Amino acid sequence: MKFCVAIDGPAAAGKGTISRAVAAHFGFAHLDTGLLYRAVGMKGGDPAQAASTLCPEDLARPDLRSLAAGEAASRVAVLPDVRAALLTFQRNFAAREGGAVLDGRDIGTVICPGADVKLFVTASAECRAERRWRETGEGSLAEVLEQVRARDARDMGRADAPLCAAEDAITLDTTTLSIDEAVDKALRIVRAQLERG
Ligand code: CDP
Repeated sequence: MKFCVAIDGPAAAGKGTISRAVAAHFGFAHLDTGLLYRAVGMKGGDPAQAASTLCPEDLARPDLRSLAAGEAASRVAVLPDVRAALLTFQRNFAAREGGAVLDGRDIGTVICPGADVKLFVTASAECRAERRWRETGEGSLAEVLEQVRARDARDMGRADAPLCAAEDAITLDTTTLSIDEAVDKALRIVRAQLERG
């Protein structure tokens, strides 16, 4: 069985938590596509070359979750050659047997426009900054908020595959939701689509 769940949204909106929970619940494979861009950003050298030679060790670096890696990712993510180099891997992952969940910025719009379920997970910038600040333990809250806003602007403003909700995506605003509530809503949406067959 092939079944693709596309989960997009801005930084720290809860995509990762929701994606992991959906994948675990339904037994689907999960790909955090942001990790690919983070690894390319941290690899150094020519970004397009880094993207086309990405290997498992690059994805196992312990510093990929840092604020610096997020920043580096969003800088290389504006480059069309980098995005093109990562496209086939992501599409193949989405088409695997047994179901797949991919989370990122352009999954429902560019990578898997025919996805069975598309979620756009969002939350206020203040709320996302606070979550990211607690999660990383880096910098001050004000600095993290500034970074979140800058990253949103770069991700939404780029010419190639900008961050936006696909027309047929269901928006899930997690600002006032607990993790359990957000996960529960996502599970219901996916289950309903699976039952529709
Ligand atoms: O975890 P967080 O939401 O902060 O970021 P991420 O999903 O790890 O993505 C880091 C950066 O990679 C984003 O700010 C985007 O610039 C870029 N990215 C992208 O352009 N396309 C994707 N499918 C995933 C990430």
